[in-house]
Amino acid sequence: MLDALASIRTEGLAQLASVSDADSLERWRVAFLGTKGRLKAAMGGMKDVAPADKPKVGALANAVKSELEQAFEARKAAIAAGGGGLAGGGGEPKVDMTEPGMIATQALGRRHIISRVRDELVDVFGRMGFDVATGPELEDDEHNFVKLNIPEGHPAREPIDNFYVDDPLTTPRPRMLRSQTSTVQIRTMEDAVARGWGPPIKVVSPGRVYRPDTVDATHSFMFHQIEGLYIDRGVSMVDLKSTLMHFARAYFAEDAQVRLRPSFFPFTEPSAEFDMMIALKPGEVARWIELGGCGMVDPNVLEACGIDPEIWTGFAFGFGIERIAMGKYGIPDIRMLFENDLRFLEQV
Ligand code: DAH
Repeated sequence: MLDALASIRTEGLAQLASVSDADSLERWRVAFLGTKGRLKAAMGGMKDVAPADKPKVGALANAVKSELEQAFEARKAAIAAGGGGLAGGGGEPKVDMTEPGMIATQALGRRHIISRVRDELVDVFGRMGFDVATGPELEDDEHNFVKLNIPEGHPAREPIDNFYVDDPLTTPRPRMLRSQTSTVQIRTMEDAVARGWGPPIKVVSPGRVYRPDTVDATHSFMFHQIEGLYIDRGVSMVDLKSTLMHFARAYFAEDAQVRLRPSFFPFTEPSAEFDMMIALKPGEVARWIELGGCGMVDPNVLEACGIDPEIWTGFAFGFGIERIAMGKYGIPDIRMLFENDLRFLEQV
């Protein structure tokens, strides 16, 4: 009798564990706890038990009965909750590992605002006939300064204003992180002459530049510029101005307001600053914001690259991509572009 009760308990619990739907649960209940079930049948043997053993056997029978009843209730609740539990499980919910996750929990990434603006700019200038040229970020002073008409001793070459990699006082051609994308003007002209494919030359060059500036709302030690260079016969200031006007209308707005302000750069003559009427903060009154410099390529620069300034003339410009992005999307602080704060990045 004791053995029979013990095996009813073990088998009952084992079979219950693999029950995963209401029908087989009911079949299990009938088989073990029903009026003609195994427990009732075993109880029928009670009359043959010696009177002295009856209390002990009776207690075990009650214990087995209530344990099976409790296990049955627990199983019933688990099945009603939607998870039958897989074989061997004590009632944990059924998990289908092949089911796709919920879309709402998948955060989709996107390209950084600077990359997008860069590509948009390349696209706008591309429609005006500009190709894309690139150059290295690790440069030498010949391309960053010398050939851009910035001779030795010029204040722009001060070590305090540049990231030199070699000591400029002791190295003949010191390397540096480029401080402007104007370096790519030089490389493109040298290349065009060496390979014989130009001029005419018409390129834009987007890329990173580096300056040891103190970081604040409008400065960063690394930022992006887009350089433009157009060299052909008879290119004039009118072409420069109409190109920039066209760019402003195409990229910002049909009624964009622009102006050229006389300025100075060693590599252009005449030189100008290019400003646009922009509200940097949403709701702010628009004011003149400087996007960068421009001008007619200095004859010395053309000559340094082997291009005859008596035949060819050209214009150049160099704008800050962050400035353009901030103006276009109303971003008030340049640091927001580099902090990688998702709360900002998800909005732009
Ligand atoms: N390289 C200048 C700077 O970083 C910007 C610039 C001015 C580029 C005039 C030009 C230019 O091509 O013609 O401040």
